[in-house]
Amino acid sequence: MPRNVLVAYGTTNGSTAEIAEAIAEVLRKDGLTVEALPARSVPSVAPYDAVVIGGGLYAGRWHKDARRFVRRHGKNLAERPLWFFSSGPLDASASERDIPPVPGVHKAMIRLDAKGHVTFGGCLQEGAKGWVARMILRNGKGGDFRDFGQIEAWAARIGQELTN
Ligand SMILES: Cc1cc2nc3c(=O)[nH]c(=O)nc-3n(C[C@H](O)[C@H](O)[C@H](O)COP(=O)(O)O)c2cc1C
Repeated sequence: MPRNVLVAYGTTNGSTAEIAEAIAEVLRKDGLTVEALPARSVPSVAPYDAVVIGGGLYAGRWHKDARRFVRRHGKNLAERPLWFFSSGPLDASASERDIPPVPGVHKAMIRLDAKGHVTFGGCLQEGAKGWVARMILRNGKGGDFRDFGQIEAWAARIGQELTN
């Protein structure tokens, strides 16, 4: 049975890191040993039996740290149970329906034979980096649209697959 799980993430403003932590917490309750780490700080996935990798969405693409992670560790990732998640939409859409992966993520899923993907709602709040972020906030389009019930339910399904 897989024991060591990595939940890696690419984030600019921290909200994807909190999703990764929530996923890790659910998997720990299943008795797994889990590390949630910034994707760019992971030198190797060899110590892990399974990997979850997620990224915030920026201009229709995964965060660059998540993209680099799947490029760099591709061969080792393909040999492990692997799940992807994205976080982005700044509205309730991700709680209401299944939002497919963006094309780059979809390609990586096929290439690495990932077992699943989900898009979670995003979060953009005061203090976010960059002028586009500030513009979105000024237009009143920010907010926290992460659905932690949905996130925990998805993580629980991964936990089930890994422990059964
Ligand atoms: C410049 C910019 C571009 C964005 N582009 C997208 C996008 O293409 N699709 C999407 O669903 N969300 C988009 N978002 C929303 C972010 O994905 C959302 O805020 C996400 O939670 C950010 O994750 P992070 O806090 O981990 O960096 C964008 C936000 C900003 C500031």
